[in-house]
Amino acid sequence: MKGKLIVIEGLDGSGKATQTALLCEKLKTMGVEYDHFSFPDYKNESSLLVRMYLDGKFGDNADQVNPYAASCFFACDRYASFRTQWQDKYEGGRVIVCDRYTTSNAVHQCSKLPSGDWDNFINWLFDFEYNKIGLPEPDAVIYLRVDPEIGQELLKHRYNGDEKKKDIHEKDEDHLRRSRLTADHCAEVCGWHTIECVDENGMRDKEDIAAEVFEAVRSLLV
Ligand SMILES: Nc1ncnc2c1ncn2[C@@H]1O[C@H](COP(=O)(O)OP(=O)(O)OP(=O)(O)O)[C@@H](O)[C@H]1O
Ligand SMILES: [Mg+2]
Repeated sequence: MKGKLIVIEGLDGSGKATQTALLCEKLKTMGVEYDHFSFPDYKNESSLLVRMYLDGKFGDNADQVNPYAASCFFACDRYASFRTQWQDKYEGGRVIVCDRYTTSNAVHQCSKLPSGDWDNFINWLFDFEYNKIGLPEPDAVIYLRVDPEIGQELLKHRYNGDEKKKDIHEKDEDHLRRSRLTADHCAEVCGWHTIECVDENGMRDKEDIAAEVFEAVRSLLV
């Protein structure tokens, strides 16, 4: 009995960790057995190449690293996590909630390519990660749609204003702007569930967003 895989996706600072935690709290109150993971798995050795990439060891600009190569680094990290931490639980029927997944490669690596190549890239990526490598496909992907400027504002205090601590994606405003376009495109063509997290007053209340996230996955849980 295969479990359910729920992915929370979104640009930097869109509230992925916040919504993952709120969904997990809700699952707990419902008595649903779950585990949650966050990618990249920074504290694990499997993320070494991801860390080298994000630290700029292969080039200080993300565009210097071919999107296919970069995607492999993140895919390997997920493979290690799946095989060593959650395959048995997932295959035993457990609900798994992930803050980022294969879907982050789609968003952040597509943005290095011209728009005419996006769909080819997405097809390659999902074939590679799901069919070839054998990672499970998500049952639901929740896309937290937030303007990049608002996401950046929410993250400001994270590094105490020290821009040098940002990784090569985080400090690249152009990359972030392009990622918003690719995220919207992926959500449309891949059937992700989009949640508009910003209204005319700015970022919506996190509990209101959480209620929408739950509605989007409710049918998977009963
Ligand atoms: N709806 C909200 N309203 C106001 N602040 C929020 C909301 N959601 C999240 N935040 C705050 O915004 C910041 C970023 O949120 P969070 O860490 O959940 O985002 P993230 O998508 O995981 O970020 P990253 O992409 O950097 O991992 C945090 O300080 C969080 O408390
Ligand atoms: Mg986060």
